[in-house]
Amino acid sequence: MKEYIIATNNKHKVEEIQKALGDKIKLVTLKELGCKEEIPETADTLKGNAKQKAEYIYNKFGKDCFADDTGLEVEALDGRPGVYSARYAGEGCSFEDNIDKLLEEMDGKTNRKACFKTVICLIENKEEFYFEGKCEGSILTERYGKGGFGYDPVFVPKGYGESFAEMSLDEKNKISHRGLAVKELVKHLLKK
Ligand code: IMP
Repeated sequence: MKEYIIATNNKHKVEEIQKALGDKIKLVTLKELGCKEEIPETADTLKGNAKQKAEYIYNKFGKDCFADDTGLEVEALDGRPGVYSARYAGEGCSFEDNIDKLLEEMDGKTNRKACFKTVICLIENKEEFYFEGKCEGSILTERYGKGGFGYDPVFVPKGYGESFAEMSLDEKNKISHRGLAVKELVKHLLKK
């Protein structure tokens, strides 16, 4: 079975992506490789960060790998938090801190439109490939649901009546930014 390193330490993400890949491809996690260090992500675009993370792991381990970067762009906040979604409330902040800050900034705003975007950079035999996915929706005024991670409890995808955190992983994967980007990645990986 073909193996790829997934350049993330986020176990929710590994679980989501492995589920989308099924049993055709095995993901090797950084934990399994004993790689505990923080991977640099200092670019100012999602694509730049995905590339930086994938190149870092490829150069370190010399094995095919991919990395993803995701941002939540909120229309009323001029696209913030965007590429800074992970540390929106400050260095070392939690998902809860980020949601608190988002709800605070969105207080009283009537335009609740937002969009999750994911870019995946795959490095295979030194060649780089990019896959993208997006999911439009809106920001709720309070948290709903216990599932998922990150901003899931306050994000409702367009055309749905529940937040990402109220959906099953399967439901979320079908329509989510990362699910759609992974679909493109899988299409590419299974072409061979
Ligand atoms: P990353 O680049 O995938 O690590 O994502 C950056 C940040 O965006 C994360 O720390 C989360 O706060 C948020 N995020 C990424 N993906 C999701 C998702 O599927 N749902 C909710 N929040 C997400």
